[in-house]
Amino acid sequence: MAEPLRPFDPDADADYQAWRRRKLADPPQPAFIEIEDPEAPDPSQRERLARDCARYNFALFRFTPPPADPQPALKGLGAHFGLSHIDANLCAKDSGLTEITVKDTGTDNHYIPYTNRPIGWHTDGYYNDMAHQIHGMMLYCHQPAHEGGVNQLMDHHIAYIRLRDQNPGWIRALMAPDAFTIPPNIEGGVEIRPATVGPVFSVSPDGTRLHMRYSARQRNVIWKDDPLTREAAAALLELLNGDDPFILQLKLAAGEGVLSNNVLHTRSGFTDAPDPALKRVMFRARYHDPVTR
Ligand SMILES: [Fe+2]
Repeated sequence: MAEPLRPFDPDADADYQAWRRRKLADPPQPAFIEIEDPEAPDPSQRERLARDCARYNFALFRFTPPPADPQPALKGLGAHFGLSHIDANLCAKDSGLTEITVKDTGTDNHYIPYTNRPIGWHTDGYYNDMAHQIHGMMLYCHQPAHEGGVNQLMDHHIAYIRLRDQNPGWIRALMAPDAFTIPPNIEGGVEIRPATVGPVFSVSPDGTRLHMRYSARQRNVIWKDDPLTREAAAALLELLNGDDPFILQLKLAAGEGVLSNNVLHTRSGFTDAPDPALKRVMFRARYHDPVTR
């Protein structure tokens, strides 16, 4: 049997070029896949979701009709794609799914997800230690905001391609195990999470999966003090703030969601309707597993 391609090895240029050609030949975004029964999607729906996640690192789905209680539906759907090791979260309820809506989290720190403020480019769990990285993520809209609350998505494979095409040395810099540090999280003088140090891009031991750990926030990321790393970080930020055709703008409607290998994403600020029963409600699940067939 032929050896698998090693497109993420900075020294395997032929493998990279072959993979890159195929990747860029696909249209920039997948279409929504309608699912009638989230806990038992039919084989063709399952196949399309898996194929889109393999091609784009994300798939877009729409529950028809949207379930009254999305939590079992989302967990059921995830289970079909190997998503079982859910990440414990400070604010998660028992099901392991986090409801994201404007609320008082009762902590000193102001957690932006639970406000209506914008969130810049990041991958989820970038502050987790390297043994607990988030490889799979689902985001689902139960009720959209009255105004705003638009997500942008970018497959991290595309970010890798754009940087490697400009300077393969940037990829090497961003693969360094000390590329960036997240300082410790301290609340009320108590350290609730130690500092984490790690790479931006990392590759699975078999060379076939690329993982990305990233936050565009300047305040809580300490980049390695090295010219190549700083150049690479600046180029990455410029890419994400630009108008690359592979950046998807997405205002999810009720019943719509994203199944992903924790791709890069943002959220714009939003305004809720005056009636509290109509406020924006999203669900998010983070997994240590990637999406698999
Ligand atoms: Fe996120």
